[in-house]
Amino acid sequence: MSSDILRVAVIGGDGTGPEVAAEGVKVLKKVAALENIKVELKDFDFGGERYLQTGEILPADAVEELSTFPAILLGAVGHPDVAPGILEKGLLLELRFRFDQYINLRPVKLFPGVETPLAGKTPDDIDFVVVRENTEDMYAGAGGFLKKGTPDEVAMQTAVYTRKGCERCIRWAFEYTRKRNKKKRLTLVAKTNVLTYGHDLWWRTFQDVAREYPDIETDYNHVDACCMWMVKNPDFYDVIVTTNMFGDIITDLAGILQGGMGVAAGGNINPDPGGVSMYEPMGGSAPKYTGTGKINPIAAISAVAMLLEQAGHEKAADRVMTAIQTVTGTKMKSQAAGKMGYTTAEVGDLVCEAL
Ligand code: IPM
Ligand code: MN
Repeated sequence: MSSDILRVAVIGGDGTGPEVAAEGVKVLKKVAALENIKVELKDFDFGGERYLQTGEILPADAVEELSTFPAILLGAVGHPDVAPGILEKGLLLELRFRFDQYINLRPVKLFPGVETPLAGKTPDDIDFVVVRENTEDMYAGAGGFLKKGTPDEVAMQTAVYTRKGCERCIRWAFEYTRKRNKKKRLTLVAKTNVLTYGHDLWWRTFQDVAREYPDIETDYNHVDACCMWMVKNPDFYDVIVTTNMFGDIITDLAGILQGGMGVAAGGNINPDPGGVSMYEPMGGSAPKYTGTGKINPIAAISAVAMLLEQAGHEKAADRVMTAIQTVTGTKMKSQAAGKMGYTTAEVGDLVCEAL
């Protein structure tokens, strides 16, 4: 039956993006064969090169075609010859908004054998998830200039929060906390002491939705305190739910705690029926490493595990996660680019072998 086929669009993107995406695809194909999952893959060449050649970031019919894929695997966005912001906005943020991917899921897990900058912390201490709202806040693009370029210039950048927007994210986070079934603790991270309108809406909504989940312990941190706590007591966290901008910032902090950008992955998820979700390593395009085989594909492979999990193939997802941990724990020397003890493709092969 065609509905049993897992269709995945692959956007390798810029720099080392295609290389790490290829390793993700390699592992996806292998685990699919082992688990009897039918996979159909299609490559799309969107990114900096195509933009420089054609002036087009996302062709008019691209969104329509991508909308037929429940999942997108994205390598990386960012080209040295394209001004910062153009591809990020025109490709990454555009897809997040167009497909209303309102959940940005960032698992923060210290794999065995991976070095964390936190002294004395082990994989038992660093294992939580950040659920970042992914469509509103300062990312909504609301704002403008007054008297631009004059000494009297005014610039406004407005944070937009809606009841619907925060409620659907908060509810999804409660569901995820329940399903994850670990500490069953959901921490709201915001700044209610200063953002007394927008984050008051988040706070009230969090309290309302919490009533539907009496089995989940609720907790609140101001974002600044969360940054301290995440470094001092990362083991306290189970699931964090937060706004788009704060989520962007704290997930970089969290990413370094789990061993850096070579291992951190994210999912941009539209959980609604027929939704198109997009999974990505957080590492960026690292142009100077392009084609050198030095970049770490673990994050991209971990993005594939998330893709499988969200597509309902939990067993396959677990298998990939276990294989990743075998490889980080028993094979790789480091997670840093060029120091892994293996090439990009060899790390992909090792994960396949460990499946
Ligand atoms: C991320 C990135 C993006 C963001 C950038 C590239 C627009 O930092 O996915 O966290 O700010 O969301
Ligand atoms: Mn970010």
